[in-house]
Amino acid sequence: MDALFVGKNLIFLPAIESTNSYAIELLKNVKVEEGTVVQAEYQTMGRGQRGVSWLAEPASNLTLSTIFFPNFLKVEESFYLYIIAALACYDTTAQLLTESHVELRIKWPNDIYVNGLKNCGILIENKLNADYLFSTVIGIGINVNQEEFKGLNAGSLKMFSGKKFSLDQVRNLLCFFLEKYYLSLKSGQYENLKTLYTSRMLGLGEVLDFSLNGERKKMKVLGISDDGLLRLEDDTKILHKDLGEIKWLL
Ligand code: BTN
Repeated sequence: MDALFVGKNLIFLPAIESTNSYAIELLKNVKVEEGTVVQAEYQTMGRGQRGVSWLAEPASNLTLSTIFFPNFLKVEESFYLYIIAALACYDTTAQLLTESHVELRIKWPNDIYVNGLKNCGILIENKLNADYLFSTVIGIGINVNQEEFKGLNAGSLKMFSGKKFSLDQVRNLLCFFLEKYYLSLKSGQYENLKTLYTSRMLGLGEVLDFSLNGERKKMKVLGISDDGLLRLEDDTKILHKDLGEIKWLL
């Protein structure tokens, strides 16, 4: 399964601060082909969501960023990028772990959890052009062959399957699925993407613990709202919450 344009232009770097930061600089300085992938063997300052760092052992994990120009997407529709990125990571992991009988879920908005441990993280950084998107850098970290995650609720494909994976194989598969979902988005498959994403959500239909305004609360996960927020039921009220407002307590 080969992608047609995602990853055809591959910039492979032995060590760099962050592939997302490198891709953002590239966009400022040169004309970049859509689907360009920046991959690092090691990130010295890998970045995660909300300013945290993303730590990954050298040469054991996939750390890459992909550049797209989704000029067909309105700013308020930009959450579809986290939907396609999460679906691509989900399918990649599912395919690589087919024989391992694992439980695979998307934790809203875009973490992939395998057997309750974080296996992939996604950091999306957009540039806007008035009401539309100009470019997006989709940064993805997949834990592949690392064997220990001290103090972190994380795991790797090797830990889940007992097998070592080639990083090239994981990257090629990820590029294939990113392209597949990006093209469905471009062709307007908004509802199908949202339905598929929802069906794979962690905790869907379950009552789980969250922290809301600093308070512990049990709420039922209903899916996502029309603007990509987490849709929850609190007793009889329906709430739509953004990442800064709510925290999963897993
Ligand atoms: C998160 O779960 O907090 C998001 C983690 C995203 C990590 C990836 S690794 C490749 C790309 N470059 C970065 O600096 N971050 C993303």
